Amino acid sequence: MESHVITNTQPATHWFKAAPVEAFSVNGGACVQYKGMQIAVYHFKATNEWYASQNMCPHKMQMVLSRGLIGDTCGEPKVACPLHKRSFSLVTGQNLNGEEYAIQVYPVKVEEGFVYINVGPAEGH
Ligand code: FES
Repeated sequence: MESHVITNTQPATHWFKAAPVEAFSVNGGACVQYKGMQIAVYHFKATNEWYASQNMCPHKMQMVLSRGLIGDTCGEPKVACPLHKRSFSLVTGQNLNGEEYAIQVYPVKVEEGFVYINVGPAEGH
């Protein structure tokens, strides 16, 4: 009988339990802290989609993206910095103004009324 070994090549990741759904703005952003890191969380009510990114805008290193304006460009969700309106894709983190700097984005999931953010490798890995 042939046997198969299944190897999981995906590193374990840590889902940070951020807060209950009600704690977040609808059609806007909010800021949560994880180990001294500020993460902006965005809720698009029309599509009930959630996104997360670093809170710091890389243009002038300001902690402001959670107060940015959310919307989309050709269906791609984005946030515009409230200070000088640089826009970033919330899917890729890419700067949509054609400049080189980008932002870190994080996967988000909602389970049993709580918002979780995938903050990367689990500890010990
Ligand atoms: S600080 Fe965000 S666009 Fe300037």
